[in-house]
Amino acid sequence: MTSVKEGLFISFEGIDGAGKSTHIDALVAAFKTQYGDSKVAKNVIQTREPGGTPLAEKLRQLILNDAMDALTESFLVFAARRDHLNLVIEPALARGDVVLSDRFTDATFAYQGGGRGFDLKTLSTLEQWTQQIRWLDANFTGKNDEETIRQPDLTIWFDLPPEIAAQRLAGARVPDKFEAQPVEFFRQVAAGYQKRMDDSPSRFAKINSNQSREAVWRDVLAAVKSRGFLA
Ligand code: TYD
Repeated sequence: MTSVKEGLFISFEGIDGAGKSTHIDALVAAFKTQYGDSKVAKNVIQTREPGGTPLAEKLRQLILNDAMDALTESFLVFAARRDHLNLVIEPALARGDVVLSDRFTDATFAYQGGGRGFDLKTLSTLEQWTQQIRWLDANFTGKNDEETIRQPDLTIWFDLPPEIAAQRLAGARVPDKFEAQPVEFFRQVAAGYQKRMDDSPSRFAKINSNQSREAVWRDVLAAVKSRGFLA
């Protein structure tokens, strides 16, 4: 997490239909306002996973639409993530920029691990390979051991009961492979997120998304401001 020039990395998570998008857009706008007029030159980069690079966006199409087993799916999401880290996230953080990503590795532990029931140890191994700082940043001067892997500074988890998320999604658009899953799948996804949060409680802000949009936004802003990331 430490680099010579310190950037800021925030990820957004939640089951499909939890309502991340409008709040991500609003937070991007808030960061741009904060840094727009200031003398501190920081770019605000909005990105997503799977995706964020031309290669990763191609992989996204396969991941969201093609049937495959859980290990294949896990390889593809981590391959996409690796390209995204190399081309977008790490260079941005090295410049000191702010990166806001719609999903990151917690989604893999939640969807492939929780939802699909895939082996968490294997996912941890893939996480280590993909996100090890010493394999990402040749100039890294911090703690340089196997434990140091790239993680968001803050993960905002939009938590909504799966039944309500399903109602919100119904009829909204043609569902992709994951959106078409039954409510029980999303219960397991949510349990996967909870486990990740239990493992790294200080990284997470769990937002109750079963409230008005205004109330959710108030909680999102409070989570970011209380950590000193926004004035
Ligand atoms: P999502 O982020 O909800 O985008 P959109 O709002 O455009 O539908 O869709 C991404 C889907 O990919 C979502 O269903 C979760 C899934 N996913 C995984 O299964 N594993 C992962 O590691 C990631 C990043 C996403």
